[in-house]
Amino acid sequence: MSNTAELYPVPPGFAGPTTIGASEYEREYARSVQDPDGFWGDAAKRLDWFKPPTKIRNVSYDLADFRIRWFEDGELNASVNCLDRHLATRGDKTALIWEGDSPDTEALRISYRDLHARVCRLANALRNLGVGKGDRVTIYLPMIVEAAVAMLACARIGAVHCVVFGGFSPNSIADRVSDCGSKLIITADEGLRGGKRVALKANVDAALKLPGTNTVETVLVVRHTGGAVDMQMPRDRWYDAVVDGQPDTCEPERMNAEDPLFILYTSGSTGKPKGVLHTTGGYLLFASYTHEAVFDLRDEDVYWCTADVGWVTGHSYIVYGPLANAATSLIFEGVPNYPDVSRFWNVIDKHQVTIFYTAPTAIRALMREGEAAVKKTSRSSLRLLGSVGEPINPEAWRWYYEVVGDSRCPIVDTWWQTETGGILISPLPGAIATKPGSATLPFFGVQPALVDADGTVLEGAAAGNLVITDSWPGQMRSVYGDHQRFIDTYFKAYPGSYFTGDGCRRDEDGYYWITGRVDDVINVSGHRIGTAELESALVLHAKVAEAAVVGFPHDIKGQGIYAYVTLKSGEEYSEALRTELVAHVRREIGPTASPDHIQWAPGLPKTRSGKIMRRILRKIAENAPDQLGDTSTLADPSVVDSLVKERYIPN
Ligand code: WT7
Repeated sequence: MSNTAELYPVPPGFAGPTTIGASEYEREYARSVQDPDGFWGDAAKRLDWFKPPTKIRNVSYDLADFRIRWFEDGELNASVNCLDRHLATRGDKTALIWEGDSPDTEALRISYRDLHARVCRLANALRNLGVGKGDRVTIYLPMIVEAAVAMLACARIGAVHCVVFGGFSPNSIADRVSDCGSKLIITADEGLRGGKRVALKANVDAALKLPGTNTVETVLVVRHTGGAVDMQMPRDRWYDAVVDGQPDTCEPERMNAEDPLFILYTSGSTGKPKGVLHTTGGYLLFASYTHEAVFDLRDEDVYWCTADVGWVTGHSYIVYGPLANAATSLIFEGVPNYPDVSRFWNVIDKHQVTIFYTAPTAIRALMREGEAAVKKTSRSSLRLLGSVGEPINPEAWRWYYEVVGDSRCPIVDTWWQTETGGILISPLPGAIATKPGSATLPFFGVQPALVDADGTVLEGAAAGNLVITDSWPGQMRSVYGDHQRFIDTYFKAYPGSYFTGDGCRRDEDGYYWITGRVDDVINVSGHRIGTAELESALVLHAKVAEAAVVGFPHDIKGQGIYAYVTLKSGEEYSEALRTELVAHVRREIGPTASPDHIQWAPGLPKTRSGKIMRRILRKIAENAPDQLGDTSTLADPSVVDSLVKERYIPN
């Protein structure tokens, strides 16, 4: 099973002077778990502290005495670590390269000095608008330089940013704004993706008409496309107007290591999205350390992560990790297939990208377009490739390695989550031989284990649920506003461990192979969507009585969304209604949540106590009607036959 035959050793000549090699990985990993205080105390020196921590780790997963605290008496500021401390030696180094949606738009190169000044100007403006330490600021921006500036300006004054992905709908914005009680929103007139305009300001306007959003006092609007927007005075202010004339220095707030840095909403298996809360010291340390080690970062690298800042990957590996490491980080506004399917590779050549980090769904989509679109570009600047967001199938891995990387560049398949703040399982490219489809081995200080359904720890080669048995500095600290939900969600299933929600296999070499979510979370193109959220969106429609949603294997997206919908009595099933329901879900949540299939379900398979048997619905959606298992406990077993008969069959 483990494909030990297919081992890709570290390419000869890959290592540079700072590359972590195999023996160093083994030695440091052992130290990190045997002496976490010593290890992380030393690691903390990579950050600049106003007051260096003397207490390193204070953690208990015991439910009666639960706490997760790292560096708790340390004081620092994240923006100082990402900017000020680089100015003396790297002020002129490019911090951000911006590549717009259209290749005809002139790219920008922003130096560390320039970025520092921009952040300070906005930070001063925010303070003038009454935003201070602990206040929440929602950021709803396209992939433009101001997105990074806004995050860092919040960090500078101790405001807690909450970035909402630009693809989310007004309802989703409103839910998040009201959950965290934002005082201010930073948005743009419009975004641009693949030549299409996204009405960001109009979405904010619509969101702020919804209940629960009246905490918002100010909306700052970046003029990006120049498209027309409604400005509602005095609430709405042009970003340029408030920032112009502000001093380009700004006294940073002294933050305790455990003060919140940001909230980022993510879907879980139940209820509304959770506000994942990350704090300052541990998060920044972990993002920067993993970024340097996993990507074998060198001063001359041009590093490009294609994620959006609306997801945690953008937070940790476009903004905080790279900038804390004084790297050059590329921000790309566009999409992989605009104006054509060579765009990624053209951008790599144009900016001489050395490290490229993307998602399996993009790799699979581009793989389908054929080699020629890749091969007509050079890509000779590349030296390292990364993958994140979902399991990468070995076929896509090999194509990425052979076609994109010309069999020269190691691939780091990085497993982690919004909750983990940074990468937990991944090869270090100079230390660990890779296997297509395996995230390989844990990062320093990370202790994975596999457990069966009863919580028994499985040893050696085994498959089970993935837990992490001890804390790491980048771990989330709470669900915003609902600490009990944090404990219940992650620490109750397997007492004494953090439960990831993922299934996983470990082979005889100790390599980890993540197999996907074992809870009711669907991973669509690397984006997490809870089935409960989709179901509540569907039943909001006036004609829907009941809905059950499951994931199914999808060639490009990894998983697709399959919805079973029962209409209220008297309502007619029709193709038009199907289209309407898809549009309804897009409106309620956002385009990433569009159902791929809606199957009309006269009845749903339920137990006698009324619980929907998703196992059965999943098998039908997977087109595996011969694997339904025992259906005799259903209240009405006959509903299954009709669902099987009417199922979608892939052609
Ligand atoms: C879930 C977390 C990590 C940042 C982007 C997604 C899946 C993530 C991998 C990988 C297999 C992966 C897991 C995880 N996942 N990376 N390399 N191999 N699965 O963050 O939205 O919080 O989703 O994504 O299922 O639990 P997220």
